[in-house]
Amino acid sequence: MRKITPKSRDIISRDSKVISMLTRPYELVVDHAEGSTIYDVDGNSYIDFAASVAVMNIGYNCQKVREAVCTQMEKMVHCGFSDFSAEMPVKLAEKLCAMTGYEKVFLSNSGTEAVEAAMKLAFWYRKGASMIAFYRAFHGRTLGALSLTSSKIRHKEHFPSFRVIHSDYAYCYRCPLNLEYPECGISCAKEIERKIFKRELSPKDTAAIVVEPIQGEGGFIVPPVEFHREIRRICDENDVLLIADEIQSGGFRTGKFMAMENFNVRADIVCMSKSIGGGIPLGATLSSSEIMSWPSGSHANTFGGNLLAAAGGLATLEFMESGRLGEKAVEKGNYIMKRLNELREEYSIIGDVRGMGLMIGMELVKEHKAPAIEEREIIVKKAVERGLILLPAGDSVIRIVPPLIISRKEIDRGLEILEDALQLI
Ligand SMILES: Cc1ncc(COP(=O)(O)O)c(C=O)c1O
Repeated sequence: MRKITPKSRDIISRDSKVISMLTRPYELVVDHAEGSTIYDVDGNSYIDFAASVAVMNIGYNCQKVREAVCTQMEKMVHCGFSDFSAEMPVKLAEKLCAMTGYEKVFLSNSGTEAVEAAMKLAFWYRKGASMIAFYRAFHGRTLGALSLTSSKIRHKEHFPSFRVIHSDYAYCYRCPLNLEYPECGISCAKEIERKIFKRELSPKDTAAIVVEPIQGEGGFIVPPVEFHREIRRICDENDVLLIADEIQSGGFRTGKFMAMENFNVRADIVCMSKSIGGGIPLGATLSSSEIMSWPSGSHANTFGGNLLAAAGGLATLEFMESGRLGEKAVEKGNYIMKRLNELREEYSIIGDVRGMGLMIGMELVKEHKAPAIEEREIIVKKAVERGLILLPAGDSVIRIVPPLIISRKEIDRGLEILEDALQLI
């Protein structure tokens, strides 16, 4: 069991006085980290099954990335990349294009900014003023992205929204249409044409459909492959752009660099962030030269192309590729899913286990599949007290998204702690 000392208590009390608007599921004051282990200021260590919300795919303190950032820091930290050229951001963009097959990149600093750029680009290219997104979607918290977001309803209170119509995602464990896959014929996707385009929004006024390949914050929901194929078809037949938000699912977390590759679907615009910076703030919006033909000055920012972020991002992508992190994610993910499915047989509170690679969700339920919300909170807290970092998602899901470099020993120990926590319910 971890020991909490006055040191962390003092920081937490100062934090609560000066830091605005954060939600923290438990108390943890970090000090440093190595690989897949985080150490707190009280000297406790934790195996990290959350990777700082799917950011640290390469693990903490990666030597290659540290060296690349330090070398760049010696030369120059920042230049006004919207005013001058510099090779490092160009190399990063070239690498992203080579890894994805897209032709142009807009660089920014976060996920929500990558989404804002995608929205602005789609509005400009298609001239439509509205978009379609999905229930339980999370795309960020700036006002454009927030209009698309539906998973965190309280964040939307009192804020204006763009016109976004939300449609049903393929959440097969709790089918919104009360149907069964595959007999359903992916009706949830078809509703866009059957209902939304007929009654709510004309395709002409729809700039884009925005979708997460696997919903993250909404509850780690993995749709059947046909779902994304159907959405792609609807976009093609109605002349609407498809925007894939790969911010949480990208970066080899699901095995492929872009999660959409698992569905054999290619979006028109892709948003990436989180893991591609290796822990340094970095966002990227990618598309074809044709779509990204917006006139110069249509969009820009101060820190996009920041030299440290570019050096860190490039080193991160190279490390991910050379370390074959995608293959490792699949192998380790299958191992964890197998064990979680065994636990599901033993613990009735585990209603569903789903995932792809190391993007795994475990949905906790009570009788009649009622979400086990309080129980989830207790399990997450008990695990942290015993040295395992877990984070919630959706109504009653625990997400398992460790660094892709996590060792078998750490996985086994983490799963043991998780089982201990389950037994305490
Ligand atoms: C799918 C998805 N899109 C967008 C975002 C927003 O990213 P950021 O918090 O960097 O703005 C997130 C963050 O969790 C996300 O998971």
